[in-house]
Amino acid sequence: MSNFLIAGNWKMNCGPSEAKQLSDDLANRWPSGSFQCEVVVSPPSISIPSAVESLEDTDIKVSAQNTHTEDSGAYTGDISTPMIKDAGCTHVIVGHSERREYYGEDNDLVAEKARKVILDDLTAIVCVGEKLDQRKKGEQEKIVMDQLDAVLNKITIDQAKSLVIAYEPVWAIGTGETASPEQAQEMHLFIRNFLKERWNEQRSSEIKILYGGSMKPANAEELLSQNDVDGGLIGGASLKEESFSGIIEIAEKLS
Ligand code: 13P
Repeated sequence: MSNFLIAGNWKMNCGPSEAKQLSDDLANRWPSGSFQCEVVVSPPSISIPSAVESLEDTDIKVSAQNTHTEDSGAYTGDISTPMIKDAGCTHVIVGHSERREYYGEDNDLVAEKARKVILDDLTAIVCVGEKLDQRKKGEQEKIVMDQLDAVLNKITIDQAKSLVIAYEPVWAIGTGETASPEQAQEMHLFIRNFLKERWNEQRSSEIKILYGGSMKPANAEELLSQNDVDGGLIGGASLKEESFSGIIEIAEKLS
């Protein structure tokens, strides 16, 4: 299989000085050429420059956590894809459940953002996932399918080379409760098959599907060992060099 993608989502943690410290720690631990997999960190936008600078001589890439659909204009508080690129990022997280929940981002807006990210030659990490009540009602596949369908309708099979999908069941985010490896695999396979039906076998196998939701060194191995789990999108455990590195080490071992 292709290399794992291990991505840290720092959310609203680590201002510029803390981001520099954490990035310096990661840079010391992982000098250029020290891992095979792909590693990305996603600081808050104000800390992107310090992370980019500290990680300059490493293979660790930097992502934004959100973006606007326009290049510029009167959108107080927002940042755009040209700005994100100019700052040295390669990836943008789109449609995180916290954006959907607290900022009312719906499937259409998430899809527009993903399209914009990809059109501007960045990689979109598109988050999908059901809430607890939806899983209890057995609706998880329908929810994820609708979230995914909106995005796939906006991009071509060729543009899908710049698409990463993160399955993050909302009930497993920041709760300490993880999807079981079987639950993760089941949904990842569902997503893989959906991609295959839409495009083809080759493209569906190339698109990385990450798992997110309380991933940490203690459970990373069983999750990353699943057939269709191609990496992780990590919140809490990405805020400490030790735990984030612990997950990278597991991905390296399994590669
Ligand atoms: P936690 O790893 O803190 O559960 O967060 C997962 C997440 O939301 C990553 O985007």
